[in-house]
Amino acid sequence: MERSGPVTNPFPPARQEVESLQAYSAPLEGRRGLLRLDFNENTIGPSPKVVEALRAIPADHLAIYPEYDGLREAVVANLSASRADDSAALAHPLSPSQIGLFNGVDAAIHAIFHAYGEPGDTLLTTSPTFGYYSPCARMQGMAIEAIPYEGPGFAFPLAAVRRVLLDEPCPRLLLICNPNNPTGTRLAPQPILELAAAVPRTLVVVDELYEAFTGDSVLPLADFATTPNLVVLRSLAKTAGLAGLRIGFAIGSAPVIDRIGRVTGPYDINSLAVTAAHAALADQPYTDAYVAEVLRARAWLLAQLQAAGLRHHAAGGNYLLIWPQAPAAAVEERLRQAGILVRSMAGKPLIEGSLRVSLGTTEQMQRFWSAYEAAEVSAADVSAAS
Ligand SMILES: Cc1ncc(COP(=O)(O)O)c(C=O)c1O
Repeated sequence: MERSGPVTNPFPPARQEVESLQAYSAPLEGRRGLLRLDFNENTIGPSPKVVEALRAIPADHLAIYPEYDGLREAVVANLSASRADDSAALAHPLSPSQIGLFNGVDAAIHAIFHAYGEPGDTLLTTSPTFGYYSPCARMQGMAIEAIPYEGPGFAFPLAAVRRVLLDEPCPRLLLICNPNNPTGTRLAPQPILELAAAVPRTLVVVDELYEAFTGDSVLPLADFATTPNLVVLRSLAKTAGLAGLRIGFAIGSAPVIDRIGRVTGPYDINSLAVTAAHAALADQPYTDAYVAEVLRARAWLLAQLQAAGLRHHAAGGNYLLIWPQAPAAAVEERLRQAGILVRSMAGKPLIEGSLRVSLGTTEQMQRFWSAYEAAEVSAADVSAAS
């Protein structure tokens, strides 16, 4: 039977939410060989033990579907061990069924929205924050309420978040990025736990991707038995240097982790990532040493920024914001010509005109700073001449 009426698409349309969605894309090509201070990655690579473990994989293992046995246990052991700085040690022990394994935290975020977000539900979050929460909400047909960070220090808008959370109908999801990417805003664990306890019908997701640089985790105090609506996200991408292999974790109450896992494929994490994750989790001293070096580099760069009187903002995370005196786009381009990538924050509310600079080693920050000073001068010359 022939259908009449106007043909809008010459191909079958996707769901309405998908048709109006813009693909989430980040400028991730052509970065090899450059000093990459644009995506908050580890700038020196993973532990040599990770590389060794990957090299030792027999070729025939690549022909076998991945096996995940023991990985959840390894995550629990890693999270339960106290750190070099005496932080951690969990008040309420975790079990392997409380650990969800994902193809990066991006995949965990996607799965959380897929499992919990329905058309008409609300995502409550902050602004500006990590760019992947919004498209995930949109693809589920959710409404987004993004509350701006407050004041010149970009403080967490706790009172406003609490007010919206306690309103009826309550948001289905609250996403807190702690420390926040890109403002670095830190929120102490206690208020987050109190928020979660106050709204049992809202899933409170704490994205702790950069927690290693602050130690502000909710995990040491979290009791998932009494607050089963709390989920914590952790990744081996940034600190352990496995961004290219894609592996991240969701930690929460067993039933919630089970529901999030139901919307993922059976083999979404590949076997190289599994091998690398085992080796990285077993070599926590390597990651701790990298984090300590990044914090030293941060202190060095902050001293230069202060001495130069340049507007900047640094709080948590392995990144900070700089507002160049010359046009930001020109400085970014000059840095690129010098082989250094940074991320422009053009179009982001509150931090328009800034560049986000990831922190690496002290030597890398020294290289960045010399290039940055030269880039300001040459960008200013060009803008004065035009
Ligand atoms: C706040 C935040 N969450 C999640 C991710 C994604 O992490 P993964 O590489 O584990 O997917 C990023 C990566 O930039 C991030 O900044």
